[in-house]
Amino acid sequence: MSAALAYDSFDDYVAFCDGIRTLAKIDLSQYKRGQMERRLRTFAERRGIKSLSEYLAVLKQDADELEQFLDRLTINVSQLWRNPEQWAAIGRTVVPELASAGRIRIWSAGCSYGAECYTIAAVCLEQAPNVRLEVKGTDIDPRMLERARIGHFTTEDARSVPAASLARWFDKTDLGWQAKPELRKLMSFDRGDLLSMRFTPSAYDLVLCRNTVIYFNEPVRDLLHERLVTTLRPGGFLVVGSTERVGVAGSLGLTLAQPFTYRKA
Ligand SMILES: C[S@@+](CC[C@H](N)C(=O)[O-])C[C@H]1O[C@@H](n2cnc3c(N)ncnc32)[C@H](O)[C@@H]1O
Repeated sequence: MSAALAYDSFDDYVAFCDGIRTLAKIDLSQYKRGQMERRLRTFAERRGIKSLSEYLAVLKQDADELEQFLDRLTINVSQLWRNPEQWAAIGRTVVPELASAGRIRIWSAGCSYGAECYTIAAVCLEQAPNVRLEVKGTDIDPRMLERARIGHFTTEDARSVPAASLARWFDKTDLGWQAKPELRKLMSFDRGDLLSMRFTPSAYDLVLCRNTVIYFNEPVRDLLHERLVTTLRPGGFLVVGSTERVGVAGSLGLTLAQPFTYRKA
């Protein structure tokens, strides 16, 4: 962090979080402080602003600046078939078990621009072509959801997709790959803040929450996992990212079915 940055004697980070909660209804205090604070101070510094108090004042006065801040706040990194070995395992074991019921209802919580949603839809249909599939994606970032609805991905996004899957589910464009209508029609995307949204009990057979809770502090992460589990029907699965685990799995009635994949009792 630059020594040039001025620090207020009171906790300007806490004051900034309070201000953003009022201004944008986003509760930054539930994210990991070290990581979030570094990012916020870097944003401010890049705008030539020397303190978080001053940055908050600018955001309050300037709607464009606030929009740009919100755009940069979330980390939207994703890709199709991210961690391909996870998708291969889900296709082999989870999908056949769920497909035996004839219908799979899926929620991608923190879906970014939808890569995970299109991936799971393709993985399910490759294993179980006749299954009825509903894929919902939610994210806090409306810009990402607009992209998700379009279903267009760059060549870089598609770098881990098996060649046969790419050819089967996507059309080549000048800039990358467009998901075919038969995948797009299975998708719905809604804005949802995982820290404040309502959770519908037993609404899903499979919940994906990957690379999203890593930004939250531990108590918030555990509470979120608990709430996600309530949205699963008994026998449903929760999938987390390849660097994550459910800290409170046992007390939530979860057993590890395979790496990063939990089955609800
Ligand atoms: C790194 S992306 C993960 C995308 C995808 N799940 C994957 O693994 O490729 C994290 C996503 O979480 C979203 N996010 C962050 N805080 C959120 C919140 N409070 N509620 C909902 N989504 C949130 C971000 O907007 C971002 O799109």
